[in-house]
Amino acid sequence: MKTTASILAALATSPLVAAAPTIIEHEKRGWVNWTSPGLNDLARKAGLMYFGTAIDNPSLNNTKYLSIARDAHEFGQVTPANGQKWMYTEPEQGVFSFEMGDAIINPAIASQQIRRCHTTLWHNQLPDWLTSRNWTSPELVSILETHIAAVVGHYKGLCYAWDVVNEAFNEDGTFRSTIWLDTIGPSYIETAFKAVAAADPDAKLYYNDYNLESISNKTRAVGALIRRLQDCGVPNLGVGMQAHLITGMTPSYTDQVANMQAFVDLGVEIAVTELDIRTELPSTPEKEETQAQNYADTVKACVDVQGCVGVTVWDFYDPYSWVPGVFEGEGDATLYRESFERKPAWWAVAEVLDSAAN
Ligand SMILES: *[C@@H]1O[C@H](CO)[C@@H](O)[C@H](O)[C@H]1NC(C)=O
Ligand SMILES: *[C@@H]1O[C@H](CO)[C@@H](O)[C@H](O)[C@H]1NC(C)=O
Ligand SMILES: *[C@@H]1O[C@H](CO)[C@@H](O)[C@H](O)[C@H]1NC(C)=O
Ligand SMILES: *[C@@H]1O[C@H](CO)[C@@H](O)[C@H](O)[C@H]1NC(C)=O
Repeated sequence: MKTTASILAALATSPLVAAAPTIIEHEKRGWVNWTSPGLNDLARKAGLMYFGTAIDNPSLNNTKYLSIARDAHEFGQVTPANGQKWMYTEPEQGVFSFEMGDAIINPAIASQQIRRCHTTLWHNQLPDWLTSRNWTSPELVSILETHIAAVVGHYKGLCYAWDVVNEAFNEDGTFRSTIWLDTIGPSYIETAFKAVAAADPDAKLYYNDYNLESISNKTRAVGALIRRLQDCGVPNLGVGMQAHLITGMTPSYTDQVANMQAFVDLGVEIAVTELDIRTELPSTPEKEETQAQNYADTVKACVDVQGCVGVTVWDFYDPYSWVPGVFEGEGDATLYRESFERKPAWWAVAEVLDSAAN
């Protein structure tokens, strides 16, 4: 078996992107196969805790996909893309369902993949019973605490981290108007963090959001929130940068490092939690080359900032990416094509991780 270093050394002798060999060609040359060193192996050698992926329930009938998704050489960490969200875990008040979450979490345990759990509090994908009427503040606090006790309690000890609060800020750094803010006030955030800490004292407790990849009023507001949570004794804090980025428009490596360092300087760990880089369709080899560089910049920033524990992609396979369904005319956002061929972005990430290890 060739080592990954020699795979990459061989690749380096030909232009990485221009060569863009297909996975079939690599397999024929004996360079890689599905059990050869993968991105997680390389990430571990580069000093990260994991390289991971989100997995969504509709993929669970695709055996080829699952052979990659559940290979801990490739992905050492798994996040359920949807299955732990409120509309699925508490579809009726006080009636809990863990089927969808368990379908992602249990195989990850069997494959010895770290689990990031997602998410106890968001303003989207809430059940109708919760959003279709007005609650008093004490009622909503009680609903929130009951939900967290049940869901986090069910997964106690199984989640490395919880995305406790998701997307609570506007771009200008003010609190987003949600049923939580509008009914309870900003203290809902503290309430949620304390409830998760009580239900699973070992879990890392993350604040998770998008557009946190370079310093802005939004990242400063998150920093202020972290300091407040620290002041009221919330342990094990983390900040998740979702990193839903756009090809050719990502923050520079330098800006990403400065931003990550600013979070780490608060005394918390950080992670890239939902990385994908979408492209206006149709994609071209030139766009894919830019995308490869963009992926490499974000992964390298995480590797280079002590305190960034890992990178999670928001699925690795285009057919299961959320992008085409949400951003009209955009796609090609992940590391693998529909054919399961690895894109230039996969090789660029592998190269960044491998050079960091050496
Ligand atoms: C894949 O690589 C592993 C070592 O990483 C080796 O044991 C196995 O035989 C290879 N499989 C194929 C089909 O080449
Ligand atoms: C999985 O199920 C979906 C929905 O039923 C279907 O569209 C898809 O073709 C199936 N995929 C495979 C690989 O069987
Ligand atoms: C909630 O209260 C607001 C303001 O009092 C009111 O306008 C709205 O109709 C109420 N919503 C429901 C679903 O009762
Ligand atoms: C950031 O906040 C400051 C004051 O808090 C404000 O003056 C500035 O306009 C804001 N910048 C942006 C881009 O919103």
